[in-house]
Amino acid sequence: MATILGIETSCDETAAAVYDGERGLLAHVLHSQAAMHAEYGGVVPELAARDHAGRIHALVAETLKAAGLKQSELTGIAYTAGPGLIGALLVGGAFAAGLAAATGASLIPVHHLEGHLLAPMLEARRPEFPFLALLVSGGHTMIARVDGVGRYQILGETLDDAAGEAFDKTAKALGLPYPGGPQLARLAESGTSGRFRFSRPMTDRPGLEFSFSGLKTAVLTTLPKDADRQTKADIALAFEEAVTDTLAIKCQRALRETGLKRLVVAGGVGANKRLREKFARLEQAGEAQMYFARPEFCTDNAAMIAYAGWARQAEAQAAGSILARARWPLHELRPPTKEAA
Ligand code: KG4
Ligand code: ZN
Repeated sequence: MATILGIETSCDETAAAVYDGERGLLAHVLHSQAAMHAEYGGVVPELAARDHAGRIHALVAETLKAAGLKQSELTGIAYTAGPGLIGALLVGGAFAAGLAAATGASLIPVHHLEGHLLAPMLEARRPEFPFLALLVSGGHTMIARVDGVGRYQILGETLDDAAGEAFDKTAKALGLPYPGGPQLARLAESGTSGRFRFSRPMTDRPGLEFSFSGLKTAVLTTLPKDADRQTKADIALAFEEAVTDTLAIKCQRALRETGLKRLVVAGGVGANKRLREKFARLEQAGEAQMYFARPEFCTDNAAMIAYAGWARQAEAQAAGSILARARWPLHELRPPTKEAA
């Protein structure tokens, strides 16, 4: 019997969730700091860490209450150990270590990207291994072959900006407030199709690498100084089309090259409606079976951390030491020493 509390504090979301090996996801609670960081146009690391510290205790209590559990009933405490903002990570890690020491539950460090990759496992329609995964977040963009928990082979990555980063920077150029990705997507809904067109970077050559920094520059040179709202919406739509087309083209290529038939889309940009529609069409065309996490589990959350912690419960560490790594390449992960029961 395993009941795992997951804690996520790697960036600007304070989140907690409980995943039970038999009963599934019992509760998940999240507080976004977006409004606090908005006036600075981006996440301020020191403010993020302080806000996590001020909220984490009450947020975990609320999560346990929603799950109908006493803390003594937890068998494991999983926390995001990296990659992320170091001060923010240390707050979640220290809280997790304290709770593990107080309750005797095991302490489980989790890789944030592994959390994203496994998030679709929380859905009723979940993929079997092996599958191809497109991971598109604010800090990372990659296509990986996933043969099991901890069995990841990165087939292609971005050479410069991550897809989410490109959304955020382009949104800023269009004068939209932080966080830009969802705002740009909303603006694009009123865009006129075909008025502008941007290239699909690196699709004209072989390989599974991405490059998104040129797109942002193309937007900046296209955008008139006195652009009205409609022009901005038209540019936003053209940008969104270029990014989502590029992602779909590269995934199609990866499916053909690997012969895999299942495709998982994970990470914050996976919440993008246009991207999801494009991949749904790929499924209708018989290219692959598609698996998505629900939009709120594409962006940062603790449900995915609780689940990844459950999958790695055999790897509990001594409650006295906290692992926190600002940088932590995904390919360093190995399968759990024992598969989850
Ligand atoms: O996975 P995530 O929540 O955090 C990281 O681990 O980075 O991803 C956040 C990124 C941000 O760049 C945000 O702008 C983008 O995901 N994002 C979106 C949408 N929702 C979030 N981008 C485009 N359309 C969306 N609907
Ligand atoms: Zn994330």
